[in-house]
Amino acid sequence: MKPVSPALSMHLDPAGIALEGGKGLAKQLCLALRQRILATPATYRIKLPTSRNLALALNVSRNTVVRAYEQLYAEGYISSRVGDGTYADGLAAAAAPDLAATAAAVPAMQQSTMQQRLSGYGVRQRRFDGPARAFRLGVPAYDLFPSAIWARLQSNFWRHAPLAHMGYGEAAGNLRLRELVAAYLRHARGLVCEPSQIMITAGAQHGIALCAQLLLDAGDKVAIENPCYPSAAAALKVAGAQLVGIALDQDGMDTAQLAQHTDCRIAYVTPSHQYPVGVTLSLARRLELLAWAERHDSWIIEDDYDGEYRYDGTPLAPLAALDHSARVLYVGTFSKIAFPGLRLGYLVLPAKLVPALSALRAMSDRHPPAADQVVMAEFIAAGHFQRHIRRMRRASRSRRDALMAAWAPLFGAQLPLPKVAAGLHLSLPLVSLQQEAELVAKAIAVGVEINPMSRFCLSGQPVNPQHRAGLALGFAGVDEIAIHKALRLLQQAWHDL
Ligand SMILES: Cc1ncc(COP(=O)(O)O)c(C=O)c1O
Repeated sequence: MKPVSPALSMHLDPAGIALEGGKGLAKQLCLALRQRILATPATYRIKLPTSRNLALALNVSRNTVVRAYEQLYAEGYISSRVGDGTYADGLAAAAAPDLAATAAAVPAMQQSTMQQRLSGYGVRQRRFDGPARAFRLGVPAYDLFPSAIWARLQSNFWRHAPLAHMGYGEAAGNLRLRELVAAYLRHARGLVCEPSQIMITAGAQHGIALCAQLLLDAGDKVAIENPCYPSAAAALKVAGAQLVGIALDQDGMDTAQLAQHTDCRIAYVTPSHQYPVGVTLSLARRLELLAWAERHDSWIIEDDYDGEYRYDGTPLAPLAALDHSARVLYVGTFSKIAFPGLRLGYLVLPAKLVPALSALRAMSDRHPPAADQVVMAEFIAAGHFQRHIRRMRRASRSRRDALMAAWAPLFGAQLPLPKVAAGLHLSLPLVSLQQEAELVAKAIAVGVEINPMSRFCLSGQPVNPQHRAGLALGFAGVDEIAIHKALRLLQQAWHDL
């Protein structure tokens, strides 16, 4: 039989309402996989991804995948071989009627290393269109984006200046925008850099992926916070990294644990607001991390994805501002102040990396779209950006307050919330994975998006026991009324808490 990898581009509905009259995620996954197996010709054998990889690819909990696999196993659709994974024999009699299955029927022999690395991830088909829902992670109050101003600036661009920007531009991005970003970082973060060190990217994720592609060889070790931002972990792994999870405490990444690792090419960190735990890397730890990088000749990727959102206390200087040996690659984004669909962000690079990274960039998408860059530059230069930051910070603070105030009388005794001094989300610890799975499943069943903390943990890597199980809630994506509505739904769903 020919071995194949299954096409993983399936859509699961977290609310469980779109499919078959409202089935749970495990049931939906089981149905989708069963359909794939039935549609795959009998001459093919499907190697299923590990439960961990499939859970990551579909953005569901590992428990969900394990339950789906158990059901298929009980029904005789799949079998497992110790040490060699899980298999299903195709069951379709003739040529596959399912085009997706046919496309996936690529003999494993023909797969490149990159294809193999990507096979566990599949295509993420999360439904992120339409308005955000409570308590979605990673989204700001984009309902407040000043679309009328943006539309006016776009129309100005097309009326007055397009010819100068309609040819090919610089790989690093529009110079005026880079100058304005440099001025903004100097003023807002105390990060002094030249516009020539800045590269405009298609968001932070693109920046992280570019850095990983440039700096990693296959098998290189990368130190990463555990729990961590899964898409950064994925970009690093796909670039060949072997991830080394470092546990966290209330001061951020445990640099004593990091010090035991002397052969990491990169450390990836979210110092201003750790994702997803929410702690801030202390100044002492920042200095230790920089000293570690210098000692072991390593790079640091500093992901400052939501640094604009600080509500209490003074923000600490970014690592890039404290770096005296040009080792920090600073990642910033407009996603959390403007809106994620904009796909604009930036890197601040050590000068010596600029030529190679510009070359890498030019070979892929050449440079970011000209109109959006020019309009963003005008948006910043005319003062709209700073005004909008203040507005977004105010709105997010108010949404945070609404969540915390309404949560306390409902669940505060059993599930106390931590103090939240920064960012767009919060996380709280739970006593067990079982409690986590129950609370998340019940929330999802009533249409409230809550993420399990275990989704962000790297399996088999050191983690603070407090971070093994928990809940992560984004509070900024919806207004106070929607927050209250979601909490009422949770009150019903969790009535037996
Ligand atoms: C920690 C972290 N880094 C990076 C990103 C990616 O942001 P962008 O939309 O700019 O790619 C996110 C998005 O949620 C994030 O949470």
